[in-house]
Amino acid sequence: MNTFSSRIIKWQHRQGRHSLPWQLDRDPYRIWLSEIMLQQTQVSTVIPYFERFIARFPNLSTLAAAQEDDVLTLWSGLGYYSRARNLHAAARNIIDTHDGRFPSTPEAISHLPGVGRSTAAAIAALAFGQNCAILDGNVKRVLARHGGISGWPGDKKVELALWHLADSRLPSKDIEAYTQGMMDLGALVCTRSKPACPDCPVRSDCIAHTQHRTAELPAPRPRKPLPEKQIQMLLLLDRGELMLEKRPARGIWGGLWSLPELLLDDDPESHCRDRFGLVAHTQQILPRISHSFTHFKLHIQPVQIDLKPRSVSPTGHIWLSPADALNAALPAPIRKLIAQLAPTLGL
Ligand code: ADE
Repeated sequence: MNTFSSRIIKWQHRQGRHSLPWQLDRDPYRIWLSEIMLQQTQVSTVIPYFERFIARFPNLSTLAAAQEDDVLTLWSGLGYYSRARNLHAAARNIIDTHDGRFPSTPEAISHLPGVGRSTAAAIAALAFGQNCAILDGNVKRVLARHGGISGWPGDKKVELALWHLADSRLPSKDIEAYTQGMMDLGALVCTRSKPACPDCPVRSDCIAHTQHRTAELPAPRPRKPLPEKQIQMLLLLDRGELMLEKRPARGIWGGLWSLPELLLDDDPESHCRDRFGLVAHTQQILPRISHSFTHFKLHIQPVQIDLKPRSVSPTGHIWLSPADALNAALPAPIRKLIAQLAPTLGL
């Protein structure tokens, strides 16, 4: 039988993806950007973000020269915003310490902010033809099934076993097609539920397939219920303008524009007065929204407050018309909230 890698490569040439926007050339900048966007995000979601980002920042030097806020605006809606901040920091780092040349070894690439071992290997393989193994979520699933590796792949020991397997299966040539083939197989055939085993080039010696264990492998994360957090958020309106607040650089939605937040038990009108020196005219409780993060679930109670015309403007805040607010770097749920409310607010 042909080796594992030769079957993957042949399959990739025939059945894999070949015209994704980051596959047009071997530009490490484009490949790096796509790999960062594709962490935790699906190809179909990434494509329009990638195109807009490249149109605005076509290369490393334009990204390095950008304002962080402009980078975050282009990322707005993709989530996991530390990816955007790290990308921007890494572009500056490459300009300053690598003479503007993208590093080409997996080791050097992995030192860039926001780039882990698998992402570094993907960039090194796809942009520079380096023979190194990747192990993202899709590839973990393919290898756990094919090699019959039990246990949750997020567990350190299981992950180490998967890295060994990934290293041992590298091809002797055509690493680009092999790397892309492993990603494509995981995304298109060896899917988490209902894998298309009849279409798989490595099914004949796949342990999960031959032992009818594809539903069990890889083992799921041992589930603890997500903690839940309840907050209020204020839509403060003064003469058709909405007040936005910049979030601290660290933590959820770091560096994005959002709405002022307060505890569920706090009184919105007193909060307005005590924290911002703003006086409420009318107050309206709006329907709750919820948003899940990796580590907790957030329930937001939005409260709309029409203010008496302000004489002061709290520092660290901006007042924007709704159209301008919707163009700012907002977290997706906040954008949705403002967009939904805009017509009813007469904005
Ligand atoms: N997921 C992560 N990297 C990818 C790539 N290069 N192509 C398709 N999906 C991916």
